[in-house]
Amino acid sequence: MSTFLIIGASGTVGAPLARQLQAAGHSVRRATSRAPQAADQVQLDLQTQAGTATALAGVDAAFVMAPPGHVRQDLLIKPFVDAARAAGVSKVVLMSAMGANAFETAPLRQAELHLEHSGLAWNVIRPNWFMQNFNTFWLHGIQTQGKILLPTGQAKGSFIDARDIAAVAEVLLKTSTFDNQAFDLTGAEALDHAQVAAVLSRVTGRSIAYEEITPEALRPGLLQAGLPADYADFLLMILAAFKDGHAERTTDAVQRIAGRAPGTLEQYARDYRAAWV
Ligand SMILES: NC(=O)c1ccc[n+]([C@@H]2O[C@H](COP(=O)([O-])OP(=O)(O)OC[C@H]3O[C@@H](n4cnc5c(N)ncnc54)[C@H](OP(=O)(O)O)[C@@H]3O)[C@@H](O)[C@H]2O)c1
Repeated sequence: MSTFLIIGASGTVGAPLARQLQAAGHSVRRATSRAPQAADQVQLDLQTQAGTATALAGVDAAFVMAPPGHVRQDLLIKPFVDAARAAGVSKVVLMSAMGANAFETAPLRQAELHLEHSGLAWNVIRPNWFMQNFNTFWLHGIQTQGKILLPTGQAKGSFIDARDIAAVAEVLLKTSTFDNQAFDLTGAEALDHAQVAAVLSRVTGRSIAYEEITPEALRPGLLQAGLPADYADFLLMILAAFKDGHAERTTDAVQRIAGRAPGTLEQYARDYRAAWV
């Protein structure tokens, strides 16, 4: 039995990851920036690093990601990596994002490089856009207007089910087979947003359509949802990269690491149907 620290343990990827590790009999510390409510939770704030050293003491391997809302992801991740090394942790798995390595100077890439050069065993996983965005970030337009409203044109994305990311992270934390490598994680096929809308319509029985909007039209909604202005602009930048075709590529990393084919959008939609009906 090993001890794992999971950052973002209440999040879309971290929650299934923590559950799976616990189900496999491991000791899991579920990090939260809020006051802990359960015995397996530890308080840790990546912004201030408060609680980091305590949370890492006695940990074998840690999973870390930058919480959404921060454009200087390096400022959150680098001190955590340093603290992990100081605490004698063997390995850190960093969830980054597909495309993060397009520019060496990008904050998320700087975080990746810091881990890669830390002397720790490491993995970087770079998932493509999550399927779960349709039941979170993009839910409002679907609920209120029956529309996926995005500035992504007819470009396709190989959306990934967050549960597959968790399955990959679990293997990387528990084994050393894939140590010291970075992986782009995608679903098995690329779909455009009209095709996504068609799947959601079929599964829910509701009429859901894709409508392209301008980045300028999306921005106020992002701000209203509480995103800081710089993070809203960051999201618009990566949505522009989606429109330019950079989210289309597929990889076999989920199959290779988790040992199963990635979940389909159809299956995701069936599992999350209650979100849209
Ligand atoms: N959505 C996508 O399409 C996509 C694609 C590629 C990569 N990503 C990456 O995925 C990550 C988001 O993962 P997710 O969707 O699983 O997360 P999420 O569901 O948005 O949850 C965020 C998590 O961060 C924790 N958190 C918030 N503030 C914190 C702080 N100051 N210190 C420590 N923890 C804090 C929250 O826990 P508490 O509230 O309990 O503190 C929560 O568990 C981001 O780094 C993003 O770049 C997302």
